[in-house]
Amino acid sequence: MTKIAVIGGGKIGEALISGLVAGGHSPKDIHVANRRPERGKELVEAYAVTDYADVKQCAEEVDVVFLCVKPKDTLSLLASLSDTLDNNSQDTTVISMAAGITLKALEEVVSAGTPIVRVMPNTPMLVRRGTSVVSPGRFVGEEQLEAISELLGAVGDVFVVDEAHMDAVVALSGSSPAYFFLFVEAMIDAGINLGLPREVAKNLAISSLVGSGALMQETGEEPAALRANVSSPGGTTIRAIREFEQSGMRGMVFRATEKCAQRSAELGTMRTTVADEDAD
Ligand SMILES: NC(=O)c1ccc[n+]([C@@H]2O[C@H](COP(=O)([O-])OP(=O)(O)OC[C@H]3O[C@@H](n4cnc5c(N)ncnc54)[C@H](OP(=O)(O)O)[C@@H]3O)[C@@H](O)[C@H]2O)c1
Repeated sequence: MTKIAVIGGGKIGEALISGLVAGGHSPKDIHVANRRPERGKELVEAYAVTDYADVKQCAEEVDVVFLCVKPKDTLSLLASLSDTLDNNSQDTTVISMAAGITLKALEEVVSAGTPIVRVMPNTPMLVRRGTSVVSPGRFVGEEQLEAISELLGAVGDVFVVDEAHMDAVVALSGSSPAYFFLFVEAMIDAGINLGLPREVAKNLAISSLVGSGALMQETGEEPAALRANVSSPGGTTIRAIREFEQSGMRGMVFRATEKCAQRSAELGTMRTTVADEDAD
């Protein structure tokens, strides 16, 4: 079984560990290192993984190292692992989850030939329904990419895209859970405005969002067709749609995602040069 090191046992690190273990990965093949030792102990108690006080030891003789620390800590951490990676008897693949840190920046701090994969996860990974967007570096072979996609598949959907699209990916999947949460928040208040109790409004809004997502995913139908199906001539739904359109909903989505992608590009430049930013 693939031996894995997870360095950084925060939200994303724990989501990965929990998904891998639930998906049948042997906990003894998952090494963990976290800066605060108490957190490492918590993960051992919860998942029976193997905890290491020393990050270098944690990465010794593993097939894959997941870097799940904040972007500002990622390059220095990877640089500190360079010798360990060189000394490993197998080609260890490094996976960076850090927003905004480019493959070029990652590849510069390790020996030439080190296989590195950049991944943009999102928070639904915490419930094994994440979206992981993967960009392989120059030294990653087809087989390695498949193995990584399989591992990440334990915590949700996996898509491979060229790194040039990463800022757009941040806007479409990395940050988008927040847009959907905001929409649901607005729906809950709208339901209350219509006289529904808060709990009922919340249940209806979430259930409809989750069901609509499943309908799109399971049927593969175009969202426009599914929307047309529930918009009868002169009916109730089309009245609501008309209001959304009149309020400029599509333009708003275009503008919001453009701003998000621009910010991702800005932070990427800062992180790669001074590495002192820490925003999501
Ligand atoms: N959360 C998201 O929605 C999201 C989305 C997209 C991408 N990401 C990316 O995922 C990465 C992890 O994010 P997160 O939300 O999981 O962060 P987090 O909850 O703050 O977790 C980071 C963990 O790394 C540990 N750590 C820091 N430096 C370390 C070191 N040198 N050695 C070992 N452990 C170290 C921290 O330990 P302590 O216990 O000492 O703090 C903490 O437990 C980030 O790069 C972020 O950009 C996250």
